[in-house]
Amino acid sequence: MTTAYDIKDASLKDAGVGRILWAERSMPVLRAIRERFEKEKPLEGMKIAACLHVTTETANLARTLQAGGAHVRLCASNPLSTQDETAAALALEYGIDTFAVRGAERDHYYQHIDSALTFGDEGPDITMDDGADLVSQLHSKRTNLLDGVLAGTEETTTGVIRLRSMTADGALKYPIIAVNDADTKHFFDNRYGTGQSTLDGILRATNILLAGMDVVIAGYGWCGRGLADRARGMGARVIITEIEPVRALQAHMDGFTVLPMAEAAKIGDVFVTLTGDKHVLRKEHFEAMKDGAILCNSGHFDVEIDIPTLEEMASEHRTPKPLIDEYVLSGGRSIFLLAQGRLVNLSAAEGHPASVMDMSFANQALSSEWLVKNAEGMEPQVLSVPKEIDRDVARLKLECMGVRIDTLTAEQEKYLSSWEEGT
Ligand SMILES: NC(=O)c1ccc[n+]([C@@H]2O[C@H](COP(=O)([O-])OP(=O)(O)OC[C@H]3O[C@@H](n4cnc5c(N)ncnc54)[C@H](O)[C@@H]3O)[C@@H](O)[C@H]2O)c1
Repeated sequence: MTTAYDIKDASLKDAGVGRILWAERSMPVLRAIRERFEKEKPLEGMKIAACLHVTTETANLARTLQAGGAHVRLCASNPLSTQDETAAALALEYGIDTFAVRGAERDHYYQHIDSALTFGDEGPDITMDDGADLVSQLHSKRTNLLDGVLAGTEETTTGVIRLRSMTADGALKYPIIAVNDADTKHFFDNRYGTGQSTLDGILRATNILLAGMDVVIAGYGWCGRGLADRARGMGARVIITEIEPVRALQAHMDGFTVLPMAEAAKIGDVFVTLTGDKHVLRKEHFEAMKDGAILCNSGHFDVEIDIPTLEEMASEHRTPKPLIDEYVLSGGRSIFLLAQGRLVNLSAAEGHPASVMDMSFANQALSSEWLVKNAEGMEPQVLSVPKEIDRDVARLKLECMGVRIDTLTAEQEKYLSSWEEGT
């Protein structure tokens, strides 16, 4: 079968292969799964439509699914996160149908989603999504393909929230596993992965010194607390904004300053949104900000900062450096926006390190295998990753890292399952 693709530049293939193999070195769990899949072919004959950030780590997931016998069609889950060399290598070296061009306009982005969904006259058996754009397209514009779909998986918090809304509206037509909710996903990927790579994106775009700066972080969820710890570690004074009392209390007791955004806006040098919410930074905040304030987002969609209003408020717009937009506001104050408000870690850096994506994508691969065995006839619903998969991923990761743990003695097992023994 010939490989179908729409990529930026075929000549980038070799650069892409080198980078994919470099990432693979830090993905031993996924590699072990790929080796098993090659022998057992658990996904034989499955058509998988995947809408994921087209990065080196995703390339290793696609290779794993292909090794399991699946026909994978891959498109990007964000127009700015595609690595063009990775897309070239996927299509031209690994024979994976790939539709992804960095910087694609909206229509082109949705054409790519349509291409990923279309297997000749048929649709996919399994969907694999990051943010639920593919699932949403399938349920709204490509409903003719819905009948044959067995099941799906979803990678991120925002996607899971959208799927739960679809379930509540009775709109979801097949079961989908919330990979994000696996402990071996969000404890590590969202926290350590987003924490580190968001700083990486900010630094690569700006080369600022964080030490001594006031960094305002909106949202103290898994991603926000990972970033807050790391920013503090680099010498920044960190301010948290929240809308949820328990999370705000956690931030306070973790030693951060907690303020409403209206107050924080006057103080911050750098603002990062990680909420999954809309217009967290808006007109009243832009009006209060200091000259030189830097704004960016690491939440899934580019709606967390009200960019249209910022554009309207600006008397001048300049691009001092790639990935930095300068908006000159009244009184000559400049506000700088990074990566057009899209995920800064994937747009200005390379996304999460491979060693953390190893666990997220091990969950994806094993969840697909589980769905092939178990999803037939299941009601449409958002499912959890089976606990045994979560534990297997943690066990394999520990083994690969050479970390050993204890096991319960027979006496402890008995004690922990009994109620008679007390004071
Ligand atoms: N950049 C990446 O690579 C990456 C990786 C994983 C997740 N994400 C995305 O990051 C976002 C956050 O994910 P998470 O796992 O931390 O979610 P989470 O639900 O654990 O945390 C989000 C937090 O934001 C808070 N919040 C909501 N609206 C707010 C507002 N107006 N002001 C201040 N706080 C507000 C919530 O109370 C919550 O505590 C999601 O969009 C997710 O999809 C991005």
